[in-house]
Amino acid sequence: MNESNQVGGHANESLRFVQLSDLHLSSIGIPNPLRIINKRVLGYLSWLRRRRHTHQRWVLDLAVEAIRELNVDHYAITGDLTHIGLKNEFEQAKQWLENLGDSYDITVIPGNHDLYTNERWLHSFKIWESYLYDDNELSKNSYSNNGLTRLNELYPIVRLRKNVAFIGVNSVFDAPWFRATGRIHELELKRLNNILNSKKLDAYCKILLIHHPITLTNTSKRKSLLNHEELISLLKKHPVNLVLHGHGHHSCTESIHRSNDFEIPIIGMSSSSSISQQPNYQAQFLLFEVTKNALEWEIVKQSFTLDIDKKCFSKSSTEKLITKHICAQTATE
Ligand SMILES: [Fe+2]
Repeated sequence: MNESNQVGGHANESLRFVQLSDLHLSSIGIPNPLRIINKRVLGYLSWLRRRRHTHQRWVLDLAVEAIRELNVDHYAITGDLTHIGLKNEFEQAKQWLENLGDSYDITVIPGNHDLYTNERWLHSFKIWESYLYDDNELSKNSYSNNGLTRLNELYPIVRLRKNVAFIGVNSVFDAPWFRATGRIHELELKRLNNILNSKKLDAYCKILLIHHPITLTNTSKRKSLLNHEELISLLKKHPVNLVLHGHGHHSCTESIHRSNDFEIPIIGMSSSSSISQQPNYQAQFLLFEVTKNALEWEIVKQSFTLDIDKKCFSKSSTEKLITKHICAQTATE
């Protein structure tokens, strides 16, 4: 991180942002058989049987229509825009992102479906690069053409927008067949440690974006973050104000207990394109408003849920989170 990425931050201005997740917005159609003779064949069959019915573009369109009324500054998209990470799916998602807004105002974190197999960078995340990159342009100098290697070089990313530091973590890797597990590369964890211990972020509300849930409370082992314990112990040492994730397709809230007066809230959201009517699995988007008070951050979270009969999203809950300012020099207490 250098001085240039301080440009986007105006640490005293409130920020309103929306979280969307697990959009699965692409259509696979009839894929080139050579591209799916690997783990993708499982994802393709699952799409044919189930996912193409469960995830509907009209639902996502309704979410965007509702969001347009809310005057938001930023979008945080916590992964799984595609089904099996084919080049054509990346291109469909890029088109959707371009319609949503400017890449400066949209931060995208990779999901495991976006890296179903380890694809070439040029055929995958390169297509979304302006939505992924750190404010620090140096990240663009990495040269790997292997998608996963390059993600490992790139993350974590930091984007400063008004009073918020969005800290994006990559949890996807080439997981074995029949697994949707995540893992954070050890070098990424080291860089995350340095970022969270940097005084340059002291003035900002630190919000960590990750695709996988970071505990086992609300997820099965098959879908879990394998090195969640390492991340949690890092966060206990160098905390953030909020963790946002997707992956589970259901809404859930928990927290990491750090000390008697500091809990780190962890919020997981359901898919923003699902037609599920199961409680907590209905399509959702979350609106957050972050305001700086003298000693604390006030984060107001509003949840908007799909009413499938009325064909609209409406507010289903409001919650206020209060979390202390974090100063890096006291973070190791
Ligand atoms: Fe996922």
